[in-house]
Amino acid sequence: MANVVVVGAQWGDEGKGKIVDWLSEQADIVVRFQGGHNAGHTLVIDGVTYKLSLLPSGIVRGGKLSVIGNGVVVDPHALCDEIERLRSQGVKVTPAELKLADNAALILPLHRELDGFRENANSGTKIGTTKRGIGPAYEDKVGRRAIRVRDLAEPDALPPKVERLLAHHNALRRGLGLAEVEADSLLRLLNEIAPKVLPFMDRVWDTLDHARREGRRILFEGAQGALLDIDHGTYPYVTSSNTVAGQAATGSGLGPGAVGYVLGIVKAYTTRVGEGPFPSELHDETGRQIGERGREFGTVTGRARRCGWFDAVLVRQTVKTSGISGIALTKLDILDGFETIKVCTGYRLDGVLIDYLPASESAQKRLEPVYETISGWSGSTAGARSWADLPAEAIKYVRRIEELIGAPVALLSTSPERDDTILVKNPFEA
Ligand code: IMP
Repeated sequence: MANVVVVGAQWGDEGKGKIVDWLSEQADIVVRFQGGHNAGHTLVIDGVTYKLSLLPSGIVRGGKLSVIGNGVVVDPHALCDEIERLRSQGVKVTPAELKLADNAALILPLHRELDGFRENANSGTKIGTTKRGIGPAYEDKVGRRAIRVRDLAEPDALPPKVERLLAHHNALRRGLGLAEVEADSLLRLLNEIAPKVLPFMDRVWDTLDHARREGRRILFEGAQGALLDIDHGTYPYVTSSNTVAGQAATGSGLGPGAVGYVLGIVKAYTTRVGEGPFPSELHDETGRQIGERGREFGTVTGRARRCGWFDAVLVRQTVKTSGISGIALTKLDILDGFETIKVCTGYRLDGVLIDYLPASESAQKRLEPVYETISGWSGSTAGARSWADLPAEAIKYVRRIEELIGAPVALLSTSPERDDTILVKNPFEA
């Protein structure tokens, strides 16, 4: 029985929520392994809407273990707020249901402030971040000065750690003209939040290892998308974690053998939030129409998403960098009614045809999409539950995508409703 990793195969917002919810029902354990509360998953269960940012999707359905792995950066206040919000909706969140890695790094108010300051400053590169402090927190983790979950349990050892962290941040803040952070106030804040967070603390790598040996089904829930990966994405317009499937092992403390089937979530067109290159972006009426029909507004920040045609070059690359076994294709119905549909199959870079995303930022900005035009369909795909329900041209579109990206469709989602899905292969049974 394979464990399953779900990753976004584009720039995030591929519609992971519904698929992850469906898979999490079959899983015993759901694990977040990267990112933080920059993610936004909306789940609608029995008519009730639940908004999740940091907690794994399995928490809502109950009866499963939800795990926040070491690869996640955790804002303890955001964590407590989210737990409270879910509890007020009747969801049970106790240390029996939720485990938080003791070696995960914390996001502190100074990270959020720095993220916002950099984004609002008119110097340097504006990334269009979610301003949640994600990047600065990962910087401190890699810089070996982060405060980690376990540190909250050792109040006597905290002061020198806070001093070391602030030596760095206050030097930076002086340079930026920001008020310095006082050690006492940060220590007070950490000691206040500690009793709320510590009950969830766990040696997650060990818990997961035991579970795995007992044959329990694990679902690894990726956030963002592979093109926002710090190494493989459109750097520097990326998030600060590895979002590719390999991170599921590192970010949870399991070896690569624990990861089985990799399901890439792929939207039938392309969207992006924030800044950065987007070769197949549409700046015309068609782009506006796709955005409107697809309700392309961010769940975390409410920002309008940029929209464009399906870019097969990017997804083909993601299939490789994430080792995708199969895809879940979402939002096909948004393309209903277009007379013709375009698919980007390659790029022209300074007049030369290429079939990959170059690593160079300036080259990425100069890419001109090469399109293949495909006939649209006049019928509706919305709510289809079998291939027979789909117009022939829609099936052709799906088959062409499979061919171009080099991965099969395992699931086809035709509306936000859970049952509006065509199942080709259940990843847990692959
Ligand atoms: P950060 O993760 O807040 O640092 O933002 C870095 C980039 O990732 C920005 O372009 C964000 O818009 C994007 N991003 C972060 N989280 C998400 C997500 O859940 N969906 C889509 N884009 C995201």
